[in-house]
Amino acid sequence: MMEGYIAVAAADELKPAQMKRVVAQGKRLLLCNSAGTLYCVDEMCSHEDYSLYLGCIKDGKIKCSLHGSYFDLASGQPACEPADEAIRTYPVKVENGQVWINPAGK
Ligand code: FES
Repeated sequence: MMEGYIAVAAADELKPAQMKRVVAQGKRLLLCNSAGTLYCVDEMCSHEDYSLYLGCIKDGKIKCSLHGSYFDLASGQPACEPADEAIRTYPVKVENGQVWINPAGK
């Protein structure tokens, strides 16, 4: 069942702690590899309009480099202030040598 999914990267494209910007259905998203697990989240921080692509990935979280909030890559929830709203997360699958995401969400 791949309805709604689009291919956004080769399965082995991202190394751990790397990320890739993806635009899908008009949304700016980030595909992230944390310790070998792939996640897809909103590119922009929920605190201010700032790209999380400029931050870094660590222990299943992504850090915003502007004010230092961390977001859980699985849930999108902020782990510390100043951000107090979650970023959205999107389903990711690896199939047929490709990484697929569903930009419509879960
Ligand atoms: S813009 Fe990301 S924490 Fe402020």
